[in-house]
Amino acid sequence: MTAAPLQIGPHTVQPPVVLAPMAGITNAPFRTLCREFSGGKGLFVSEMITTRALVERNEKTMQLIHFDESEKPRSIQLYGVDPATVGKAVRMIAEEGLADHIDLNFGCPVPKVTRKGGGSALPFKRNLLRAILREAVSGAGDLPVTMKMRKGIDDDHITYLDAGRIAVEEGVTAIALHGRTAAQHYGGTADWDAIARLKEHVPEIPVLGNGDIWSAEDAVRMVRETGCDGVVVGRGCLGRPWLFSDLVAAFEGRTAARAGGADGYCARPTLHEVADVMVRHATLLGEWIGDEARGVIDFRKHVAWYLKGFAVGSEMRKRLAITSSLAELRSGLEELDLDQPWPVGADGPRGRTSGNNRVVLPDGWLKDPYDCAGVSEDAELDTSGG
Ligand SMILES: Cc1cc2nc3c(=O)[nH]c(=O)nc-3n(C[C@H](O)[C@H](O)[C@H](O)COP(=O)(O)O)c2cc1C
Repeated sequence: MTAAPLQIGPHTVQPPVVLAPMAGITNAPFRTLCREFSGGKGLFVSEMITTRALVERNEKTMQLIHFDESEKPRSIQLYGVDPATVGKAVRMIAEEGLADHIDLNFGCPVPKVTRKGGGSALPFKRNLLRAILREAVSGAGDLPVTMKMRKGIDDDHITYLDAGRIAVEEGVTAIALHGRTAAQHYGGTADWDAIARLKEHVPEIPVLGNGDIWSAEDAVRMVRETGCDGVVVGRGCLGRPWLFSDLVAAFEGRTAARAGGADGYCARPTLHEVADVMVRHATLLGEWIGDEARGVIDFRKHVAWYLKGFAVGSEMRKRLAITSSLAELRSGLEELDLDQPWPVGADGPRGRTSGNNRVVLPDGWLKDPYDCAGVSEDAELDTSGG
């Protein structure tokens, strides 16, 4: 399929593929890796940054908003619950030239966030959502502001169509919809019909579809089936940054450099090639953090994803997941049978897949969707995820 370009304000994203923001994952090194595989095409969103930490210039937060010089456009995702603080954070980004695009996170289902009325609980309060979007858009000046959300809190409290309309009215540039409710967390399957419905409901702005894209073929199918203007890919990239070469190839209507599999889009690296990417990923993390050991330690969480499906014994998996230096990581990898081809069984779901949790909300939250009560500011403390 040859896909039309996606327009996010002044930024043309061609082909229309977006790396989903993932806390603890989509930092500058991971975005660099994905961009290398995509040939620089696509949009790569930072992990979420809390607005309060940003306006307070928290040291760790200032590192998280670091972009590689070659990264264009620079895309930051913000998480905030207070209109004034969101406005301040957005103004700071615009005035100091810290990014080229701002995405707002209203999809986080983590109980410690929804308990305070933040994340995926927030769009239920229509007026609060409107106030946050208004502050963000007015503070952003020429920078495009987009939002990412879920379908709603649960099947009885669906919010995405109202939220979509509010977003259009407040001047949001594009909307990404993860086709799950907060109650579903990452369980079940994403509802792509909801993406199609949102597309019909807000024809004024681009709609991006998100949820359960595990291959380039899934991405093409989502665009065909829903009419969405672009795709946002998260867990499918965990331990598989080369998925971006497949995505670009598929949307440019050609097969991947080394096609394999039934779909013909899929680059299927050998374990040798995967090991090289692992070392590169860990190296980039070390350079970014400014400390090799800390980079390798941060890389540990990626090991199981990279090795998924390959014949690697459990002892060796454990050993590779506790390495503290590049030399240790390299020597462990060299002991593997590196000639193994890509295991076909590794193509499906990966990362978080559990669901069906009761959504914890503030007392009385669901009584009135239109009351104007704010959310306590500590809803922004120590939050992560989406
Ligand atoms: C580890 C992890 C961290 C995430 N962090 C964020 C985040 O910071 N902001 C956000 O909007 N979504 C976050 N998400 C949700 C993803 O962006 C995406 O919406 C979700 O994984 C569904 O897409 P997928 O099926 O392609 O993974 C996170 C997901 C995972 C698995």
